[in-house]
Amino acid sequence: MEIPVNGNTEVYGIIGYPVKHSKSPQFQTAAFFSLGLNCIYLPFEVKPENLQAAIEGVKALSIKGINVTVPHKEEVIKYIDELSEEVRYIGASNTVKNLDGYLIGYNTDSYGFIEGLKEILPVIHDKRFLVIGAGGASRAVLYGLIKEGVQHITVANRTLERVNRIIEDFKTLNRFIKDILKPVSLEKIEENLENVDVIVNTTSVGLKDEDPPLFDYSKIKKEHIVVDIIYKKTKLLEAAEKKGCKYQDGLPMLLYQGVKAFEIWTGKKAPVEVMRRVLEEK
Ligand code: ATR
Repeated sequence: MEIPVNGNTEVYGIIGYPVKHSKSPQFQTAAFFSLGLNCIYLPFEVKPENLQAAIEGVKALSIKGINVTVPHKEEVIKYIDELSEEVRYIGASNTVKNLDGYLIGYNTDSYGFIEGLKEILPVIHDKRFLVIGAGGASRAVLYGLIKEGVQHITVANRTLERVNRIIEDFKTLNRFIKDILKPVSLEKIEENLENVDVIVNTTSVGLKDEDPPLFDYSKIKKEHIVVDIIYKKTKLLEAAEKKGCKYQDGLPMLLYQGVKAFEIWTGKKAPVEVMRRVLEEK
């Protein structure tokens, strides 16, 4: 029997709480093995009160890279030495590279969202978007869309103040941000549907089957492209399918955020199809 670890094996991992549901250990380790790299990727359950100690541990144990998930993505920034541009705008880091104890934080969620979207929509910049939500996931999506050159984004959120804060924070990213991002309340979604091509849900609404809908999904038109970043067939996506829309769940975003993390850590092109196959296995 050939054992795939030895004294030279490099360790990567994911920290989160909870973390047991994460697919990253499987698909990242599959990617390492597929390229013949002597690396392994493990789940680390870290309670919020232990985050700082865990990051010290990453350095002390020479763990080469980590992914960071709920609830640590924002808090982890405090303990990172250098933040890439997208982390400064998004305010959250999901990927950390450890260079001999010097930590660099990245956010690969926005790359993941854009690369995933390109699978059903190759040209993005000329489309009009409705993005629902104004949390960390929404910031990653909005950052990606603005970097792609999208000019029309309606942002709907229960708490409008959070959308206004994004507009304020993104002022230095694009000086026309006030013309690009239009805040609306959830109640106004339906009257804005006519003016958008792509609908994106970034909220957690739909994760549970009993969640009430964000708006009247019967108002979706078959010309709409519908994306839910939740990794399952939500009611929103069921409605989109029924109307005959092009639609996508959270799998492509999950895949490509991992692809980008792999490439940041290894400097090598990720085996995307190997990773996709692992993710698609139930
Ligand atoms: P994440 O990092 O996953 O984006 P978050 O920062 O907590 O998580 O943001 C959650 C998003 O889901 C927010 O847009 C939130 O709306 P508020 O800003 O008004 O809180 C939205 N959300 C969560 N539960 C919701 C609900 N029941 N109805 C409407 N929006 C909801």
